[in-house]
Amino acid sequence: MTGSSRGLGRAIALDLAKMGYDLVINYARSKSKAMEVAGEIEKLGQKALLVKANVGDVEKIKDMFAQIRAAYGRLDVLVNNAASGVLRPAMELEESHWNWTMNINSKGLLFCAQEAAKMMEENGGGKIVSLSSLGSIRYIKNYTSVGVSKAAVEALTRYLAVELAPKNIIVNAVSGGVLDTDALNHFPNQQEMLEDARKNTPAGRMMEIDDMVKTVRFLLSDDAFMIRGQTIIVDGGRSLLLN
Ligand SMILES: NC(=O)c1ccc[n+]([C@@H]2O[C@H](COP(=O)([O-])OP(=O)(O)OC[C@H]3O[C@@H](n4cnc5c(N)ncnc54)[C@H](OP(=O)(O)O)[C@@H]3O)[C@@H](O)[C@H]2O)c1
Repeated sequence: MTGSSRGLGRAIALDLAKMGYDLVINYARSKSKAMEVAGEIEKLGQKALLVKANVGDVEKIKDMFAQIRAAYGRLDVLVNNAASGVLRPAMELEESHWNWTMNINSKGLLFCAQEAAKMMEENGGGKIVSLSSLGSIRYIKNYTSVGVSKAAVEALTRYLAVELAPKNIIVNAVSGGVLDTDALNHFPNQQEMLEDARKNTPAGRMMEIDDMVKTVRFLLSDDAFMIRGQTIIVDGGRSLLLN
């Protein structure tokens, strides 16, 4: 479970623990928060392996999977949730901003999936679910680098779904509308985004973390066996409107 110290990642990790999974709690900077999540998982009677690793760095990814192999010896599920990005209009993006965002959000999925698939194959298969956002297919102000990185996540999801299918590995993604997590604090227009989500979501309320958690849970269940390479949009219908 990448990026599980806070926000949606934390909620998915706790849900997986309730389902009986032992967890890997990956984080980059928030050690104390990651330790809290690990503590909660242990209270639920499951194991939690804490791994600090920047998923934008392939060597750190390889090292993380070596730790997972040493601790558990098997892997059933990869949830690719970690995300970061530089929020600026396209004309203000510098090369370092582009590389930072693409490395963590897009390259991270490819190399985590490669390492995960090697372990899953040894146990007869597994499931990979990534988190994406509406900026992959729609315009969101200041979101260029992240939106493009998420478009790559969704495309990679389709390629991996085909190439990993013979290994019985099921690959999908969940994309969502605005959620009130720490990620929103980085948007200069945070209040405007929350206001829009509250007022203009056809379903009548803004998204809650649990709406995403439930969809991840469904994609990890046997009921989703024939869903491959898809990005399920969970947004209460917000993206259906023109504005
Ligand atoms: N919030 C939304 O409105 C929204 C909507 C749709 C989809 N999503 C997607 O859902 C996912 C989670 O979003 P969120 O809102 O929960 O984000 P968040 O609150 O910003 O949390 C991001 C998580 O990713 C980790 N992370 C960041 N950079 C990392 C790196 N280089 N290596 C490893 N871990 C790293 C963070 O850990 P540290 O604190 O340790 O760095 C943290 O646990 C993302 O993929 C996001 O794009 C979010």
